[in-house]
Amino acid sequence: MISIKNEVGYFMNIGIIGCGVVGLANATLLAQNYKVFLWDIDVEKRKLIANRILPLDDNSLYEIWLKYDLNYEMCSSKDSLIDLSDIIILALPTDLNKESGNLDTNIIETIVDDILNQKRNTTIIIRSTVPIGFTRSLIDKYKYVRILVMPEFIREGNAYIDMVNPNRIIIGGEIELSKNIYYLYRDAIAKANKNENYKLMIMQPDEAEAVKLFSNSYLAMRVAFFNEIDYFAKMNDLSTKRIIDAVCEDPRIGNIYNSPSFGYGGYCLPKDVIQTAKLLGKDAVLINSIHTSNEIRKLRIINELDSLEGTIGFFRLNEEKKETKSIRYSATVDIMRELVRRGRSVYLFEPSIVEKGNYEKVIFVKSLDELNSNCDVIVADRITDELAQYKHKIYSRDIDCI
Ligand SMILES: NC(=O)c1ccc[n+]([C@@H]2O[C@H](COP(=O)([O-])OP(=O)(O)OC[C@H]3O[C@@H](n4cnc5c(N)ncnc54)[C@H](O)[C@@H]3O)[C@@H](O)[C@H]2O)c1
Repeated sequence: MISIKNEVGYFMNIGIIGCGVVGLANATLLAQNYKVFLWDIDVEKRKLIANRILPLDDNSLYEIWLKYDLNYEMCSSKDSLIDLSDIIILALPTDLNKESGNLDTNIIETIVDDILNQKRNTTIIIRSTVPIGFTRSLIDKYKYVRILVMPEFIREGNAYIDMVNPNRIIIGGEIELSKNIYYLYRDAIAKANKNENYKLMIMQPDEAEAVKLFSNSYLAMRVAFFNEIDYFAKMNDLSTKRIIDAVCEDPRIGNIYNSPSFGYGGYCLPKDVIQTAKLLGKDAVLINSIHTSNEIRKLRIINELDSLEGTIGFFRLNEEKKETKSIRYSATVDIMRELVRRGRSVYLFEPSIVEKGNYEKVIFVKSLDELNSNCDVIVADRITDELAQYKHKIYSRDIDCI
């Protein structure tokens, strides 16, 4: 076990506030090397984690929890975490405020206030996605330079693999402090994965925040772009696959992340695109139109499905990336809900859903076979091997089936 020392040689403890996808992915990496204190507002989550149970559906993390006795401790209160930690990582939600179009940073602001009222020698690392200018505003408000922003790029469902295989580590803030935090992650990644094949990029906080928002906007734009190719090809009776395969032979475009889908979704892309557009203003017509393109995409899929005869069955609801099992803000959920609203009879096979109350009028089935025997059409955003035998009744825009 490596203990981190600060410049004058004291051992340092790491605290993480917010035990969701980002918080637990960071904890899983860092607690292999260092002592990590955790805290979350959710009591049930706290109990599970304290009992060494991972409260997330993510195999990549689960395997590490099984393999190692991670060196973490759930604190009895937020105050005790603040007291015990020399470095505090904030992995808190920044949901979209639908009225303002900005990410809601209230939770982070309150916690930073709590930390700095309690003590003034902690290094605070913001791993949440925040609006451009947010970290700088905290540094100025508290006249406290030990606040860094370190955008996170992991994908849900693949969190640990992404954690130990970063392509870049971006840190926005004071240079020496940023380097120290980099060493912390570098050593943990090196031990976990022997990987040094990534870049460290230290920059101003505003720039680091911009990197995250523009990265997510680009990814969303790419999804929307290939979906528009798919729309054009379908309208003109052309092969989407042949067109996309040939377009992507150009290495400047690249043969990755290019399968048509029902639209981008997930916790991050929808909200981050809206925030980026809001920050840039209406003149940034390209970024402003990504969200609209995605909404139109979903509507076209809804109308097409609604025009089909017979009973519709949905196979899984996870969003457009194959790796993730998350159904948070998934485009498929929006599509399914609208069909139900229009009075269509809808079946669903989604074993990850425990709370069925949120899916009023949806008929749940327990297997793909049961879905098949009840439905004329099986809707799947992504094609998997288990769907092969039902090919004749699949509705999908996945590149592997169009
Ligand atoms: N999910 C991803 O793949 C991903 C990737 C990169 C960046 N991000 C960003 O990271 C941030 C966190 O995302 P996430 O997916 O981990 O969210 P999450 O919803 O999975 O986890 C957030 C956690 O914070 C807890 N929480 C809420 N309020 C709290 C409070 N006042 N005190 C303590 N805990 C509190 C919640 O109970 C929850 O466990 C967001 O800004 C998101 O945009 C997420």
